[in-house]
Amino acid sequence: MYILGISCFFHDAAAALLRDGVLVAAAEEERFTRRKHDFEFPIHAIEYVLASEGVTADELDYVAFFEKPLLKFERILLTSLQMFPRAAAVFREAMVTWLLDKLWVSALITERVGVPRERILFSEHHLSHAASAFFCSPFEDAAILTVDGVGEWATATMGSAKNTEIRLTREIHFPHSLGLLYSTFTAFLGFEVNEGEYKVMGMSPYGNPRYVDKVRKLVRSDPDGSFRLDMDYFAFHRSTRIPYSRKFLELFGEPRPTDDRFFTEQSGYPSYFGQRPPDFAAQARRNQHYADIAASIQTVTEELVVNMATALHRETGSSRLCLAGGVGLNSVANWKILRQTGFEELYVHPAAGDAGGAVGAALYAYHTLLGKPRGFVMEHAFWGREYTEREVVEFLDAESIPYERLDDDRLLARTVEALIAGQVIGWFQGRFEWGPRALGHRSILADPRRVDMKDIVNTKIKFREPYRPFAPSILADQVHGYFDAPGVERQYPARFMLLVVDVKPSKRDVIPAVTHVDGTGRLQTVPREGNERYYDLIAEFGRATGVPVVLNTSFNLRGEPIVNTPREAYSTFRRSGMDMLVLGNCVVRKTGESDA
Ligand SMILES: [Fe+2]
Repeated sequence: MYILGISCFFHDAAAALLRDGVLVAAAEEERFTRRKHDFEFPIHAIEYVLASEGVTADELDYVAFFEKPLLKFERILLTSLQMFPRAAAVFREAMVTWLLDKLWVSALITERVGVPRERILFSEHHLSHAASAFFCSPFEDAAILTVDGVGEWATATMGSAKNTEIRLTREIHFPHSLGLLYSTFTAFLGFEVNEGEYKVMGMSPYGNPRYVDKVRKLVRSDPDGSFRLDMDYFAFHRSTRIPYSRKFLELFGEPRPTDDRFFTEQSGYPSYFGQRPPDFAAQARRNQHYADIAASIQTVTEELVVNMATALHRETGSSRLCLAGGVGLNSVANWKILRQTGFEELYVHPAAGDAGGAVGAALYAYHTLLGKPRGFVMEHAFWGREYTEREVVEFLDAESIPYERLDDDRLLARTVEALIAGQVIGWFQGRFEWGPRALGHRSILADPRRVDMKDIVNTKIKFREPYRPFAPSILADQVHGYFDAPGVERQYPARFMLLVVDVKPSKRDVIPAVTHVDGTGRLQTVPREGNERYYDLIAEFGRATGVPVVLNTSFNLRGEPIVNTPREAYSTFRRSGMDMLVLGNCVVRKTGESDA
């Protein structure tokens, strides 16, 4: 039995395919269209997941859509009407776009995919999130928490699940939303909503949470885990452009200008920013204020998430928690859940945001609607398109790109040599990752031991700002040598790079390039099974240097989606200061040429 899952029209569009309840492929549309966070109907992702199995639309038994468009339409309609005339613009935009396509999703699926209406099933937004975590987890039963911006009406749900049944017993409704609270600060701090949230998270360790009392004025939380926003401070329910109100600005001052460079006294002025400005001290002071605000919203978010999880633990008595929704990507909060709420095991879907809803909707249809038993655990995140050695070689030959083909051992040895020599390497292997993190299949790698490596990678590749920490990938069996994180090796979110933990004080100088300013690291534990070549590479680096850790950042330039094809990898390599590109077993170098 084949079930196609689809999510789209709000955040990240994606498609996923199940064969007899087992996931065989999943990908976000942005990887094919090259438009970051593309939310349009994911026709390219659908074509890919079908082609990966060699099936046509006729062979699909069902298509599962990740939310209920009518319910969502109702919410937009009612909220805009309540706020009329202040929300007239929201209402007009909603009417136009929803009436054009979103409302008629089944007609659209029939037309674009070619599946008749009676084979199209609908899940609810938060049920899709819940299913994406629970049905991919190894747990037979667990508590469930979903937290995001907004689905149809729900912005957070709590409940429990057993075998093939998910029961969401409590919901928090729009406009009371933890995701939208965080996004409001994301916009205030000068970042793009739905893109800059992790920058706020990265910026917060540079600040002191001195404004938590002010942030707490915006949101009231109860011992049962629920919370309410004071809507006088917000405008996202009546404006499509500015999510905060005048009263919010009276509390926090002027928003941070979008194009301002971020640095503080603590970060210093990175060399790749160019010459230090004469008013460095004044600018650093202003940035410090914004870093303090970032620290404050991060602290309050952690409090609210921990409060919800604590209440849920009390109610369910379960030791296992499944977490999904965009807030599940807040990897700092995730570790606090494990440390502070009583839950002992945590599963977070690697694509915890709306993309994950495609997998969730398909699994919900299979297990809950059709009553089929479970037989799948998402052990890794490699569900994207793979390119065979022949495809790689054909591309290189066709473009007359010089390369060297090495056998496995020599490939690893050569890559380790280059890493030790301080080179920055594009590493392209196997199927691309599902979700926002690169996990060793479409990664840029470097030596984490060098204090200057952050600046080197930023200068050569990403031109990113100091609040963007680089991640350590570490052999799963060596994690306790480097991190103070009891039990982390058992936690699935660690292999999906969704936990931020403390680097051991004695190791902070050993791996400075992947240690954040507050001594933490957003680690990726790498088990050998399912990620053999990456594991072997890190092991080889460990043998040569005594440090079984590499610096891992996603294979893309700023503002672009992570690469999919060998051509995109090569183009990114050429347009950056990367020194070496490894495509499968083929090595491409820049030596002897002038860098592009
Ligand atoms: Fe969502």
